[in-house]
Amino acid sequence: TRVAMFISGGGSNMVALLDDMARGSHAGMPCVVLANNATAAGLAKAAGRGVATIVVDHRPFAGDRVAFETAITQALAPFAPDLICLAGFMRVLTGGFINQWTGRMINIHPSLLPKYKGLHTHARALEAGDSMHGCTVHEVTAALDDGPILGQAQVPVLPDDTADTLSRRVLEQEHRLYPAVLRRFVTGDRTPLILTS
Ligand code: GRF
Repeated sequence: TRVAMFISGGGSNMVALLDDMARGSHAGMPCVVLANNATAAGLAKAAGRGVATIVVDHRPFAGDRVAFETAITQALAPFAPDLICLAGFMRVLTGGFINQWTGRMINIHPSLLPKYKGLHTHARALEAGDSMHGCTVHEVTAALDDGPILGQAQVPVLPDDTADTLSRRVLEQEHRLYPAVLRRFVTGDRTPLILTS
């Protein structure tokens, strides 16, 4: 399975996926890393691991999401991906694009979905006084952060947690969960994986 990864920033989840695929006996192989901006620090990490990178800057397409997604589709074509992993990709994709990838696009979100779809998930969990937080890998559907859940990692909230300390512990679990889910997803296994930290 040829795996494309989409990033917007540091790409720490993308690195975790690449490093796990490099470990061997993995049915997936990385074919390209795409970023929506040239400043994404993850681009150098991908290139340093010998993975092709492409930038499709979203800004020239301001307001025209479909044109941006057409540029993505064209940029991806030479790499012939079978699967897209969104990994810290901060652009909303339209249903028109997502429907071309049904069952072949997954995402990691830093909350225990269906709680806290969208942004600022750690602050919202703290605000709510939750004792348990975490992250979720799910299939991407047109509704934001809403597709079938493929895995979750639970992270206890500590009394002195701030959004920053909590997000750092969640990110660590993202780096465990996403590779574990991808490893089984590419074999066709959709059994939800629950990790407790
Ligand atoms: C992090 O907030 C992570 O929780 C979410 O995307 C952001 C950046 O992740 N999945 P990454 O380091 O670029 O993978």
